[in-house]
Amino acid sequence: LEEVAKNEIHQANTSDELEKVRVKYLGKKGELTEVLRGMGSLSKEERPVVGKVANIVREGIEEALQEAKNQIKNKELQAKLQAEAIDVTMPGKRIKLGKKHPLMQGMDELKEIFISMGFQVAQGPEIETVYYNFDALNAPVNHPSRDMSDTFYIDEETILRTQTSPVQVRVMENKKPPIRIISPGRCFRNDTPDATHTPMFHQLEGLVVDKGITLADLKGTLEVFAKYFFGNQTKIKFRPHNFPFTEPSAEIDASCFKCSGSGCSFCKGSGWIELLGAGMVHPNVLRNCGIDPEVYSGFAFGMGVDRLVMLKYGIDDIRLFFENDMRFLNQF
Ligand code: PHE
Repeated sequence: LEEVAKNEIHQANTSDELEKVRVKYLGKKGELTEVLRGMGSLSKEERPVVGKVANIVREGIEEALQEAKNQIKNKELQAKLQAEAIDVTMPGKRIKLGKKHPLMQGMDELKEIFISMGFQVAQGPEIETVYYNFDALNAPVNHPSRDMSDTFYIDEETILRTQTSPVQVRVMENKKPPIRIISPGRCFRNDTPDATHTPMFHQLEGLVVDKGITLADLKGTLEVFAKYFFGNQTKIKFRPHNFPFTEPSAEIDASCFKCSGSGCSFCKGSGWIELLGAGMVHPNVLRNCGIDPEVYSGFAFGMGVDRLVMLKYGIDDIRLFFENDMRFLNQF
């Protein structure tokens, strides 16, 4: 019996199979149990002899079972470890990273340029008052830009800012000169969207106020900016213009070295492209902010960020920035 049982034990490959063997011999109705149960019919002399043998057999089987059990457990553990093993040499799954919107990349580049020249970044609200957006900036009460057809009014005194220039006023109200700030942000105008207009767009404002600031400082600053942003060959040119908050005022053009020949879509043959508006801060604006124009002077400029990024990368429609077409965005 012991021989047969041990043989079956050795053939068992899993815990389940082993358990079946155990029940077969040692269970309630097992073969060895039957033998022990049958002892009642034996004679007094036979009983201890058979009992002793039966016990030895049981111990032998139990031992074999235990040994087999350990072996199987070990085997099953090994198999599990192998199945769950991680192959560290396998190539990983690459997570697709998002990236900055081209406009924000351009914005960062512009900020970097001015920060490297010692400007600090200032912020102002997008929902602005008529006072900061127009009155304090010396805009006459009948100025066309105040019109409902140009400006989004929330109520009589509150609008969506049409320019970043109100931040100039907020900064000057709160800080004594020397002032040297830029202010990037969103602006809103009641324009019908086309290739060069969207009702929301971006500007970057600049303001410097100190004793003895002159037009030459403005020119130098903008020249450095244009060379950094468009390349070292870039030239700039001042064209007289008019803004209520600067006097004198100018529009600044950059030379179109990149597309001087045919196929130039934005220079239209003249070789110059308009970049931004600028001028010397109007004495009225300084006074409105509590700064004495007899002591201090300053310059300011404002540029359309969308437009500058379009020029730099040859983008021919501003609406592309806001359509979120991955084919467009992935190019940057
Ligand atoms: N705010 C003007 C505009 O939106 C630009 C500008 C800013 C001009 C500062 C001069 C000085 O057109």
